[in-house]
Amino acid sequence: MDNNNQQFMFLPFLLFFTLFIATTPSASSSASCPIDLSYVETFPWDTSTCRDPIDTHHCCQSLLSLIGIGLAKHLKETQLFQFPNENISSACLQDFKLKLSSLKIQPLLVPTCFPNSTQFVTNTSSCAGISNITDWKQKVGMITPLDTSCNGDMKSETTCSMCTDAGFKVTSQLTDIDPKNSTKCFYFSILYAIGIVNQFGPTDPAAAACILGMPLSSKGSSESNNGKILKLVFGLLGAIVGVVLAFVLIIMYKKWDKMRRENLYHRSVENSVRDSVLPNTGAKWFHISELEKATNKFSLKNKIGQGGDGVVYKGTLSDGTLVAVKEIFDLETRGDEEFCYEVEIISKIKHRYLLALRGCCVTSHSVRGKRRFLVYDYMPNGSLSYQLSVNGANKLTWPQRKNIILDVAKGLAYLHYEIKPPIFHRDIKATNILLDSKMKAKVADFGLAKQGNEGQSHLTTRVAGTYGYLAPEYALYGQLTEKSDVYSFGIVILEVMSGRKVLDTMNSPVVLITDWAWSHAKSGKVDEIFDESIRDEGPEKIMERFVLVGILCAHAMVALRPTIAEALKMLEGDIDIPNLPDRPVPLGHESFQSSLLNGMQQSGRSTPFTSFYSSTMSTISRN
Ligand SMILES: *[C@@H]1O[C@H](CO)[C@@H](O)[C@H](O)[C@H]1NC(C)=O
Ligand SMILES: *[C@@H]1O[C@H](CO)[C@@H](O)[C@H](O)[C@H]1NC(C)=O
Ligand SMILES: *[C@@H]1O[C@H](CO)[C@@H](O)[C@H](O)[C@H]1NC(C)=O
Ligand SMILES: *[C@@H]1O[C@H](CO)[C@@H](O)[C@H](O)[C@H]1NC(C)=O
Ligand SMILES: *[C@@H]1O[C@H](CO)[C@@H](O)[C@H](O)[C@H]1NC(C)=O
Repeated sequence: MDNNNQQFMFLPFLLFFTLFIATTPSASSSASCPIDLSYVETFPWDTSTCRDPIDTHHCCQSLLSLIGIGLAKHLKETQLFQFPNENISSACLQDFKLKLSSLKIQPLLVPTCFPNSTQFVTNTSSCAGISNITDWKQKVGMITPLDTSCNGDMKSETTCSMCTDAGFKVTSQLTDIDPKNSTKCFYFSILYAIGIVNQFGPTDPAAAACILGMPLSSKGSSESNNGKILKLVFGLLGAIVGVVLAFVLIIMYKKWDKMRRENLYHRSVENSVRDSVLPNTGAKWFHISELEKATNKFSLKNKIGQGGDGVVYKGTLSDGTLVAVKEIFDLETRGDEEFCYEVEIISKIKHRYLLALRGCCVTSHSVRGKRRFLVYDYMPNGSLSYQLSVNGANKLTWPQRKNIILDVAKGLAYLHYEIKPPIFHRDIKATNILLDSKMKAKVADFGLAKQGNEGQSHLTTRVAGTYGYLAPEYALYGQLTEKSDVYSFGIVILEVMSGRKVLDTMNSPVVLITDWAWSHAKSGKVDEIFDESIRDEGPEKIMERFVLVGILCAHAMVALRPTIAEALKMLEGDIDIPNLPDRPVPLGHESFQSSLLNGMQQSGRSTPFTSFYSSTMSTISRN
């Protein structure tokens, strides 16, 4: 915070100097940025997401890629992956702001996207203790796959896909050494590929688009289009899909916005409705004293969970009901009004397989500041991930597993089809599936952080904050579709059926559950996929069906995934499962990469990485 204020105050000051005393050397006490950021103004990047109307989420991704170009240059010159200290990092962000303002882009986007400039500062705990090229060579060797695959012209799809492939290999090599910091390791691999290996360097548009996931302006992409028919076809398809999607999104947004405006009128009475029951919803405004009483003043003993976005306490209301009280960390992305509006929407969504919101609490305390809480039903059996883990209370039986999978599918189908506008969960994973006393599954954490205007969503801070450097994956994060949820659901099915985690980090190389399940299924050994403890329990045919649906749902190609409604029918045996497509193209496969690349260049984004990364990364960060 201090730091940001300093920057705000500094801005007019700096402008003054640049305009009037252009030759003033920078004061010796304040650091100056060692990289020449003039590329920000000349590089053909797609600035549209950072202009009115600003799409913060995608804009932050672009800005991160843009800073990546600078860091890669810095790496080339100084051998350092990050800035040597915070002062230099702040100075660079400061310069970055000035460059953006000369492009007439709101400079305050910089502190919004990168609230903490220490994220760019050298820190040996970032990734496997690496801070410079010497360290890098010690850890991964003199010649890595990146050195052999990333030196070509990235205009060629084949070269690009080989390079990204190599990126994954080296990242998994590093993640083996330091499993906790895969995000930074991924970023380091990319900086190395583009800064050290690639002969055209980070300011080459094709290299930046391929390696850093930098969206190019239409001018830039037409230059890199060398007229291959395949590319054109993919491009056209991408454009059409993009236009249709944009259209649908605009309509959805307009409807949503209208609804929201109408509702805002009613919001002014919010204060008077506090302490009372919300009309039509059954959700309640709790007073902080009620929650304090329920949770024993938020005592550590009552703490039952902690995630990136909040802490969860177990509580007992005065009427004896058990509840889970979640304190939300993020107070900035949304104002109180917006928060309350969202609570109201979410509390209207009631479904047997969705975790019901009981109410919320917003409070301002003179000392502790503002706090926000959500109150949910308490789920005595914890999360699916807990039940599947080795220290889980009891081993789930096959009928329980089957019902859990069906419950989740029904919950998702409800979110996708029965709510207008539909809600895409975006973060389906075993930790977000909770189990009640009868082992019925409830999908949790839907909506609140995710619904509606994507640009201002909660993810924005997460990208910039927790994940920090995570540019490329997030640039690839692409347009959201219902199929991203289907992918994650497929992973959950496979986890439930096999008892394994999405990524097997015990062995090296790291094995993705989909690839593992696929190879077993293809060689006719489906039964080896089943968790040993249920192997002899069920009718094998049905268990096999579940696994096949899981593999299909988690297919890397969006087009080959079923919708959740289709998946549910397949699970229930109402429709046949199509033959498994020829191979769930491994991540990094050429056809997959090239459609991705084209999608990125032509229309913005495409999705397959989305779910892979969100699930991978969250699994890793989940410990
Ligand atoms: C930035 O993050 C570091 C730790 O990662 C923390 O110690 C520091 O307080 C943060 N600074 C700001 C301004 O938020
Ligand atoms: C950073 O700047 C502050 C004052 O602006 C100074 O006190 C501090 O020593 C500097 N740190 C480094 C590492 O240069
Ligand atoms: C390095 O990062 C860790 C975790 O983000 C933080 O706790 C630590 O203070 C940082 N060290 C330095 C020297 O900035
Ligand atoms: C990297 O992992 C180490 C432990 O292996 C941890 O202490 C450190 O905080 C992590 N750094 C980041 C930036 O997550
Ligand atoms: C690279 O960093 C290590 C510490 O991480 C340090 O010991 C070494 O001297 C550095 N090498 C160069 C060339 O800066």
